[in-house]
Amino acid sequence: MNQKRIDAWNSDDLPIFEPNLFEVAKLPRDGSADREANLFFTTDVKRAIAEADVVFVSVNTPTKYAGIGAGFASDISWVELAVRTIAEVSTTDKIIVEKSTVPCRTAESIRDILAANGRPGVRFDVLSNPEFLAEGTAMNDLLHPDRILIGSLPNDDGYKAASSLVDMYAEWVPRNKIITMNLWSSELAKLAANALLAQRISSINALGAVCEAVGAEIDEVAFAVGLDRRIGPHMLKSSVGFGGSCFKKDVLNLVYLSECLHLPEVAAYWKAVVDINEWQKDRFAKRVVSTLYNTITNKRVAILGFAYKKNTGDTRESAAITIVQSLIAERAQISIYDPEVKEDQIWEDLGDSPAARKQVTICSNAYEACADAHAVVILTEWDEFKVGEYASTDVITPVSSGPPSPVSMDDGDESAKEKVFVSGITADKVHHSLRPKLNWARVAKMMQKPMFVFDGRNIVDPHKLETLGFRVQCIGNGRFGMRQ
Ligand code: UGA
Repeated sequence: MNQKRIDAWNSDDLPIFEPNLFEVAKLPRDGSADREANLFFTTDVKRAIAEADVVFVSVNTPTKYAGIGAGFASDISWVELAVRTIAEVSTTDKIIVEKSTVPCRTAESIRDILAANGRPGVRFDVLSNPEFLAEGTAMNDLLHPDRILIGSLPNDDGYKAASSLVDMYAEWVPRNKIITMNLWSSELAKLAANALLAQRISSINALGAVCEAVGAEIDEVAFAVGLDRRIGPHMLKSSVGFGGSCFKKDVLNLVYLSECLHLPEVAAYWKAVVDINEWQKDRFAKRVVSTLYNTITNKRVAILGFAYKKNTGDTRESAAITIVQSLIAERAQISIYDPEVKEDQIWEDLGDSPAARKQVTICSNAYEACADAHAVVILTEWDEFKVGEYASTDVITPVSSGPPSPVSMDDGDESAKEKVFVSGITADKVHHSLRPKLNWARVAKMMQKPMFVFDGRNIVDPHKLETLGFRVQCIGNGRFGMRQ
């Protein structure tokens, strides 16, 4: 529907930043002497549907902002619109794959709309095939998924449709990783996976607050508990709060579903995951103010990172938005630097208010942002902000104050995530591990004294920064944090 965006997909400047995406898409899109192109970006949606045997419905399903279930339920109007278009233009049988994350039993609505609007004699089979890739590692997740989930109706037609999709994935995914099940289980499994992942982060952030109060360090606690194979080391990195377009939306979707099913205790349980996340962001912003002697009016605060995680330019639900808005309300002067987020996006996220325009400067490098700052606030874990050696892993490796740990948390699989994955693909043209690291000694020379660093991602080594004269506060760290 959006010609400008489709034009960007057909150009050398894709409309989103994702490591290796361009390298993966270019050859099938442009073809070569010995390969015909087989990937097309087009706004001619009717023709594309008419020619297809399988249609993946991959549209946005944001949280509803008005009407019944506002603030919790997912808006599936784009799914419905897509399905009505499919019904209208299809003249041959098709498999419709529900790829968007949807509320449970959406496949039933899809089947109903197709049955009521499809042409006579045209048959549709609906499958659920939720997506589990994460931004920043999407290409590797696509090529080496933990599992592919395919849900179908439990009858012969459903099994036949599912088996076609299994064959498609089996082109590159081992068959034992392709799981088939009941449609409704598949739809719920997607929500459940995101809810459980988000719950781990809220759990670790809640424990982080306890660490701050008792003098413990959350990275050490996470490291210790993660060694238990039943718990595992992933998704236990304490942070200023999870963001992204999925976690909050999907947990709230589960809350809404539970309420609709008259399960208020279940709804309250999952709602707490989102509440802790909001609390964590608020707590962090308050800490910045209280540490800077309870006022940041007209003080310069440098924000390093605006994306909701590293290796993406995506800012949806980024903790940075809430925190910068709180600092604007406190009348600070704010300089923001993020290596991938576009300037227009930051203005849009901040509401582009006169207050924002007056108080916020968007910088093209970290030094510009840090000049004359009273405090540096790290909100995204970009490698270039780290101190010391680059560690290519999302697994907890505590910046420990104790003796070095004999056990490595860096399992081979995970560390491979950020490396180059596909044979024939050269190194990512803008791989951020290749950017020069921030020279914190240079930053120290530019800042107002005393110099504060608030590390919302626990990526800097507070000991090293202290030797440069910084006063450092980390998340969930009783030694380098403040009791609230
Ligand atoms: C998430 C899931 O991880 C994917 O499996 C899922 O497919 C996707 O949502 C989706 O539903 O589309 P994504 O949001 O891209 O993927 O990224 P995550 O790596 O899960 O991170 C989400 C947020 O949690 C980020 O803000 C990240 O910084 C934060 N996070 C992550 C932590 O604070 N601590 C951690 O240990 C891990």
